[in-house]
Amino acid sequence: MTRGHTDPTRTDDVEGRPDGSAHAGPEVWDANARAWTRAVREQRIASRAAGTDATLLTTLTRLAPGRLLDAGCGEGWLIRALRQHMPNCWALGIDGAPALIVAARAADPNGCYHLLTYDALAAQDWRADPVLAERLADPVDVVVFNYALFDRDIRPTLRAARALLAPGGAVVIQTLPPCASGAEGWRTEEFTEFGEASWVPMTWYARSRAAWESALADAGLVSRTEQAPTPDALSLLLVAQAM
Ligand SMILES: C[S@@+](CC[C@H](N)C(=O)[O-])C[C@H]1O[C@@H](n2cnc3c(N)ncnc32)[C@H](O)[C@@H]1O
Repeated sequence: MTRGHTDPTRTDDVEGRPDGSAHAGPEVWDANARAWTRAVREQRIASRAAGTDATLLTTLTRLAPGRLLDAGCGEGWLIRALRQHMPNCWALGIDGAPALIVAARAADPNGCYHLLTYDALAAQDWRADPVLAERLADPVDVVVFNYALFDRDIRPTLRAARALLAPGGAVVIQTLPPCASGAEGWRTEEFTEFGEASWVPMTWYARSRAAWESALADAGLVSRTEQAPTPDALSLLLVAQAM
């Protein structure tokens, strides 16, 4: 997911996810797991190389969390990078795509990666898993979503993230640049920039800056600081804390 390779055509702007083969959930990421893992690890995503990875790491280093949850961790690059940048930070990755959790564990056998959808996080299903229940028994200082919030209604996920925060903790969101106010709606990502034929298209919900703030507020969060990753605004980076 980067700026500049999305079809700006809205596919649906009424209720819920669009119908059809393209969808926003982790199922599409499971289908794309092999291609996505190659794209990340072979640095085929231009905006990441141009600065969004580095800015996220700078932001997290500044926050200096002792405990971090990487929500929608994908193949796990961030947790592997954090180990180098912040060796004292304990990190747990969750993702709803089984094949990406397998890839994350294979690349980092000593890391903590668990299969968990946002719905299951919000429903607190993780409490029934003894390992996850123990690992999430204490609050975390940061919950980070790096290009990992694509649904139209992200409020339950944000509420669940907030509930996991220690006092003074932060929800860090890096995402695509916001659309103009009034232009919110579903878009389709074809992944054509990455040069493999096997991608399953994905829909994602574009929101304005005001819509991001509204979703945060509904979850009891407010963005206190914002750091533009690069001068040409490759992404939106929000650092939100409890109101
Ligand atoms: C663009 S990838 C980003 C992965 C990773 N954060 C990174 O920076 O490379 C989006 C990730 O969000 C996960 N995801 C999307 N919707 C999810 C959901 N409802 N529950 C759990 N994971 C989800 C996908 O499975 C995928 O791994």
